[in-house]
Amino acid sequence: MKRTRLLAIVLAGGLAIAACGGGDDDSGGNGDDSAAPSAEEGKQLFGSTCASCHGQDAKGMPDLGKDLTTSAWVAEQTDADLLAFLKVGRPASDPLNTTGVDMPPKGGNPSFTDSDLESIVAYVRSINNA
Ligand code: HEC
Repeated sequence: MKRTRLLAIVLAGGLAIAACGGGDDDSGGNGDDSAAPSAEEGKQLFGSTCASCHGQDAKGMPDLGKDLTTSAWVAEQTDADLLAFLKVGRPASDPLNTTGVDMPPKGGNPSFTDSDLESIVAYVRSINNA
C-alpha cells in the first residue's frame, strides 16, 4: 500500500516535470519557427520585391507580372519546384514564357536566401486559388 502511494507521488511529480518540459519544448519550437517557412514573413518579402511587378495583392499588373492568385501553373508545382523556379526566374527567351517579359531570378533581389524564398513560396501558396 505504502509503495503504491509513493509510486503515485513519483508519477504525479514526473507528470508535472513533463508538463514543464513540454512548455520549454514549445518555446524552443517557436524559436525554430522563425527559420521555418512563414507565409506571414513571405507576405512582407513579397510586398517589398515581387509586388512591384505582381501587385501588392499578387493579382498581377498589365505588361509586368502575372496574376499569381489564379495561376494554375503555380498550383501544379511542388514547393521545391517553386523554390527552384524563383531562383532562376523565367527570361523572355524561355519557351515557357507567355508574356515576353522577364521574370528575374529571385525577383531581382539577389540578397534573398533560400529560407526567404521558402517563406515567399508559402505566401504565394496561401493566396493561390487555382
Ligand atoms: C520585374 C518584374 C517581376 C518581378 C520583380 C517579379 N516577377 Fe514574377 N513574373 C514576372 C513576369 C513577367 C512573369 C511571367 C513570365 C511569363 O511570361 O511566363 C512572372 C511569373 C511569375 C510566376 C509564374 C506564374 C505563372 O503562372 O507562370 C511566379 C510564381 C512568380 N512570377 C513569382 C514571383 C515572385 C515570388 C517574385 C518575388 C520574389 C516575383 N515573381 C518577382 C515578372 C516579375
